[in-house]
Amino acid sequence: MSYDEQITAMEQEFSRELLAVAAAEDLRRLERSFLHVKKGRIRELTRGAAFAELDVEARRSHGAEAAQLEQKMRALLDERLENLTHKDHETTPDIGIDFSLTADVQPGSIQPVMIIQAALEDIFRGMGFRVDEGFEVETEYFNFDAVNVGPDHPARDMQDTFWLENGLVLRTHTSASQVRALRAYGAPLRIIFPGRCFRQEETDASHETSFYQCEGLMVDRGVSVANLLGVMRTLMSEVFEREVKVRLRPGYFPFVEPGFELDLRCLICDGTGCKVCKQSGWVELMPCGMVHPKVLEAGGVPAGFSGFAFGLGMTRLAMMKFGIPDIRLFDSGDLRFHSQFPASA
Ligand code: PHE
Repeated sequence: MSYDEQITAMEQEFSRELLAVAAAEDLRRLERSFLHVKKGRIRELTRGAAFAELDVEARRSHGAEAAQLEQKMRALLDERLENLTHKDHETTPDIGIDFSLTADVQPGSIQPVMIIQAALEDIFRGMGFRVDEGFEVETEYFNFDAVNVGPDHPARDMQDTFWLENGLVLRTHTSASQVRALRAYGAPLRIIFPGRCFRQEETDASHETSFYQCEGLMVDRGVSVANLLGVMRTLMSEVFEREVKVRLRPGYFPFVEPGFELDLRCLICDGTGCKVCKQSGWVELMPCGMVHPKVLEAGGVPAGFSGFAFGLGMTRLAMMKFGIPDIRLFDSGDLRFHSQFPASA
């Protein structure tokens, strides 16, 4: 019998005997029989003439395998003991606990944006993307300059910013992590970073001072708009689990060239016009485009690589998916709202 076969045989025998265990004392007997420091059967694996004749390397690896098996057996014994003890409770009439009583347990709720985030992470992992987190408090450099928005660039006006007294900013978009990610991981790279962003907004049904985005970045040799569209289409059909209408318009963002705006047919009013789509029938869902050469350069990406980036509005996506008509509900603290997303569902 080879050593591996010996290990397997021992394990099977142990499992068989474990199955037959009916009480705690059987368990103790089983433990002694297999694992006793001197007389345990498992010791046969690392004893005897055959074992002594092995070279050091083989003895070491056999020893390690035996030790692993021992650990496994101990874990199984513990688990069985746990089961036995519970069973004891169930059958002990005088313990004073009625296990048949149903409890009024509130499972709590999951914040709807987090439901979306978990789904997105799943979908993107399936497409080979890694998931990372950026920083909510950023330097001016990563939030603006690194993504091609210099100090005097008019695009800074597009994002009214909360500045901290120490000169840092509350990131206005998850794009702030683009150059960090490129520097940290290099190319080729497929990554998403979901997270919270902040802007000085006048709040209304679709604007809040804090909202969630999910940034995506794919950089490789020969990446084109076709790859961008392919990924977006897969994404939308998986998220909404139904046919959705999208349209692509040219859009301007300093860190992409060309840049697009992906709009989604409003799922709340189905295009007839409502508060969320501002009566237009379309909701701006996802700005995207090909990563600007300046951004690749700031990220230290060598020549020959190209990529696409997108900034998916997760809060908006949650509103579409769940038919939430007002963004202010998210932070309202209104339990009637939150309890509609039970954790157990
Ligand atoms: N960062 C942009 C915004 O928040 C969105 C964006 C991301 C656009 C990636 C293009 C590419 O408005």
